[in-house]
Amino acid sequence: MRSMVAGNWKMNGTRQDATELVTAIAAQEDFQCDVLICPPFVFMQQVSSLIENSHIKLGAQNVDWHIQGAFTGEISVSMVREFGCRYVLTGHSERRTLFDESDDVVATKFKAVIDAGLTPILCVGETLSQRQASETHEVINRQISAVLDHVSSDEFSRGIIAYEPLWAIGTGKTATPDLAAGVHAGIRQFVAEVDCELAENMRILYGGSVNGSNADELMAMEDINGVLVGGASLKSKEFIAICKAAGAN
Ligand code: 13P
Repeated sequence: MRSMVAGNWKMNGTRQDATELVTAIAAQEDFQCDVLICPPFVFMQQVSSLIENSHIKLGAQNVDWHIQGAFTGEISVSMVREFGCRYVLTGHSERRTLFDESDDVVATKFKAVIDAGLTPILCVGETLSQRQASETHEVINRQISAVLDHVSSDEFSRGIIAYEPLWAIGTGKTATPDLAAGVHAGIRQFVAEVDCELAENMRILYGGSVNGSNADELMAMEDINGVLVGGASLKSKEFIAICKAAGAN
């Protein structure tokens, strides 16, 4: 399966940072992997122009699930689609914890993204205390089931899953390749209970303190089909190193 590297800039950077970063990445040869950038909404037009004619794809960090209407401050799927955005992160842990997005809301957003013909990247993962209580698989299976309750398996198959353990996000504590691969295998097994073929073809990314030094060993694992990168996606050298590692796996 072709690897994917997705950069989630979160709420960082200036217009100038965005231009410099994207220009540096787009100037590289094709990385032989799928490269995705998810900038803040206000930089989307700018990033979209800079990646025109390049191998880089554009994603959104979030969307509202309503089609349109009186939802002050929200952005719809069709709006981001107009800028060439083809992917949307759904259920990032920061959305779940800081903005109270429930499993149900995440599932509704996943469905809205599918309905608009875009690819949702469903983020799942456990907290440190849930891991210590051996609840990792239970938590993740619940997060996935909530989406499966809302969409058909065919619709689910058009999405991507990103395993992002909360204790590894922005902490510098990456999951070991073995630990991450074990969880990915568990996710695949859980999805296989719904549909074997779907599980086999499902892309599962790992996220949490991925950088230019650890990306290679993570993506060398069979069940890790790419990475979702936060902090290191803001540094062109790091991000390019990760993309090269992805291309080599
Ligand atoms: P870091 O790479 O900064 O740990 O963030 C991971 C993440 O949340 C990507 O969505």
